[in-house]
Amino acid sequence: MTIESGFAHTNGAAAQATASRPYYTPVGNEETVFKAAYRQGLSIVLKGPTGCGKTRFVEAMAHDLGRPLITVACHDDLTTADLVGRYLLRGDETVWVDGPLTRAVRDGAICYLDEVVEARQDTTVVLHPLADYRRQLPIERLGVTLDAAPGFGLVMSYNPGYQSVLKDLKDSTRQRMVAIEFGFPAPEVEEAIIAHEAGVDAGTAAELVRFGQAIRRLETGGLREVASTRVLIAAGRLIAEGLPVAVAAEVAVAGPLTDDVAVGRGLRELIEVYLGESAPE
Ligand SMILES: Nc1ncnc2c1ncn2[C@@H]1O[C@H](COP(=O)(O)OP(=O)(O)O)[C@@H](O)[C@H]1O
Ligand SMILES: [Mg+2]
Repeated sequence: MTIESGFAHTNGAAAQATASRPYYTPVGNEETVFKAAYRQGLSIVLKGPTGCGKTRFVEAMAHDLGRPLITVACHDDLTTADLVGRYLLRGDETVWVDGPLTRAVRDGAICYLDEVVEARQDTTVVLHPLADYRRQLPIERLGVTLDAAPGFGLVMSYNPGYQSVLKDLKDSTRQRMVAIEFGFPAPEVEEAIIAHEAGVDAGTAAELVRFGQAIRRLETGGLREVASTRVLIAAGRLIAEGLPVAVAAEVAVAGPLTDDVAVGRGLRELIEVYLGESAPE
């Protein structure tokens, strides 16, 4: 459940209410590591490809720790003001409006900078003193430095394959952060996730996982990204809607993964090999 943030400049910021635990199946020791790091006030960076469960994981952790979660979907125009806040004109008055990072610091929430890869370089200036032992947020425009309220946690995710502001963080800051690596879940785990999320039977989920793994074995093979759990779930959803398996795989996996004709042909061959039998064509 998402509560609209009061932040005027939306930039994808949302505070989560935590009614029931978001469905998350651990893949390794990530839950224990996250909770230990959070309790010690260490910032956390989640590394891994897109669609492998990072966002869902943070939602589950915020729920378990009983903290509000403020998520900021980073993009390449994201400025320090977007994170920290800005003066806005309300009628003929100028009012200061906190950004999502400032709200998290004041309220002791977990602030999740999703895909921090996209944020602009200058945002690191405010992230440094927050991410390291100081746990302080300097707000230049207000001339104040806020101490993070108890409960505040800074979590960032990024895909190591791409350029990232994290690469420009000072080593002293990076070394104050805990890194949790995300990969794709083991087959049995991924099958259970797909069956749960897409509402398909275990056999269909297993088929999709075998297909996904075949694509992952291609390694690069002209693909920028391999098949994530997310695209396999999307295929599963279409199958649950009654689409033939091969069609679902084509439009939810092959199509999104590549625009290249030859690579697309390769993926279609895999669809035939791995999903052809059950495709009534
Ligand atoms: N370990 C997991 N447990 C439960 N669901 C998962 C898991 N891994 C992936 N998913 C599913 O895959 C989808 C994509 O995961 P997401 O957290 O959005 O990926 P990321 O943030 O890494 O791009 C989620 O919506 C969820 O349905
Ligand atoms: Mg994400």
